[in-house]
Amino acid sequence: MSTDTTAINREMRLFERDAQVWLFGYGSLIYKADFAYLERRRAQVEGWTRRFWQGSHDHRGTPEAPGRVATLIELPGAVCVGMAYRITPAVFAHLDHREKNGYLRRRVTLRFDDGDSTEGLVYIADPDNAAYLGPAPESAIARHVATAAGPSGPNRDYLLRLAEALRALEADDPHVFAIERDLLALDAIASP
Ligand code: SIN
Repeated sequence: MSTDTTAINREMRLFERDAQVWLFGYGSLIYKADFAYLERRRAQVEGWTRRFWQGSHDHRGTPEAPGRVATLIELPGAVCVGMAYRITPAVFAHLDHREKNGYLRRRVTLRFDDGDSTEGLVYIADPDNAAYLGPAPESAIARHVATAAGPSGPNRDYLLRLAEALRALEADDPHVFAIERDLLALDAIASP
């Protein structure tokens, strides 16, 4: 089964009739905004949690040796902090290509720090996508992330840059910070 979700996203046409839409980024979209946007604001989504459970065949790994990247998993009561970008549908083609390894455009409610909320767009890799890797202990995820690499660079850079970006947003994320801690501990073992 193909992992490429570009055509599905294009056919769904979600938000394409809107002149502008808020895009919620929770992974690399927080720290790597390589697309045009009109404004960006810290935001959160409720009922979803960030997990390194998605395989990356195209950015931080290869089809033979996938890396591990973030997706959102439904969890009642959870809050996920990220970055929201006000964009126009002109950038959907770029985003669909960038997020093509299993991510689908979804509708979600974003809440801003001032309490305002709006319907927005988010790319989520569901558990039934072909590149999904699923849960693993954070220590095992750290070992995996330590060795994987792909066309966008080492998997560890994705994790470390995300952890740094979350700290800058004053976002607590025990899952990401536990993987970061285990990854840095592995470095210390490798070069004492
Ligand atoms: C996102 O950042 O919102 C999606 C996952 C990724 O591109 O890392």
